Amino acid sequence: MPLNRPSDITEGLSQRPARISPKYFYDQRGSQLFEAITRLPEYYPTRTETALMQRHAADMARHLGAVRTVIELGAGSCEKARALCAWVRPACFVGVDISVDFLQEAVLRLRADMPGLDARAVGGDMTQGVVLPSDIPRAGRLVFYPGSSIGNFDPTQALELLRHMRALVDGDGGLLIGIDLPKDVAVLEAAYDDAAGVTAAFNRNVLTHLNRLIGSDFVEDQWGHRAFFNQQASRIEMHLEALAPICVRWPGGERRFAMGERIHTENSYKYPLAVFTDMLAQAGFSHAQAWTDERGWFAVVHARP
Ligand code: AVI
Repeated sequence: MPLNRPSDITEGLSQRPARISPKYFYDQRGSQLFEAITRLPEYYPTRTETALMQRHAADMARHLGAVRTVIELGAGSCEKARALCAWVRPACFVGVDISVDFLQEAVLRLRADMPGLDARAVGGDMTQGVVLPSDIPRAGRLVFYPGSSIGNFDPTQALELLRHMRALVDGDGGLLIGIDLPKDVAVLEAAYDDAAGVTAAFNRNVLTHLNRLIGSDFVEDQWGHRAFFNQQASRIEMHLEALAPICVRWPGGERRFAMGERIHTENSYKYPLAVFTDMLAQAGFSHAQAWTDERGWFAVVHARP
């Protein structure tokens, strides 16, 4: 029997509708599938953000000023931090991610390629509050949260998280954050339901991860991938839909699903820029400078206390 049995998983599976936290997407395979998603033709956020950062690097560097430590939340492959560190030249980089094995490998590569950089990997679940090693200096910190991952939290949690980021920096620090903006529904829905089925595989993989974590008996093929834009809430929703009547069992519990019943696996909020800068102000970041692409699809925001 698996030793690790997070109770939030079984609680979520027992709710109606059932829910799985998106943090469980990111086991080793899930992290690899997510990397593949970022290269899909339909998935515009990563390449739009990268292009924005390349195009405005000099202007951004001017706004950021002297940065001593870059702290990247949800660092994954650290590819974005690599580019950022090349132009802000911090003394120290701290990558934080829930998928610590994957992160560790990426940090080792970063250290090898940037020998002067004190690069560290910290395993942690941001929703539980990140504890950094005590020897990371407080002066000149820049929290880096690219990729519009803030959109995967509901607005109340997102505000809490922004407040947590504010607590990580002093008055001379800042936050550089990517946000995905509202746009044409067809563009949004294609990005989360790609023709090659990579996002579907990413969504279903969470079930195999759960099997390992709680000893459940999910069978991926019995579940369909569903992704759609909820206009009222301004968010993409991802669900897994039972393709037949299914009974899922785990040690000490079970859940019966009727055919067509869904498990809600992810929300991805798309915030208008003004709504987001208002959230930043509520979190204690009263100054914000934003860069957007010419289609107005994505924004990179530098926020300061
Ligand atoms: C990590 N996060 C910003 C992605 C998103 O776009 O919400 C996760 C994702 N889910 C499906 N595709 C990508």
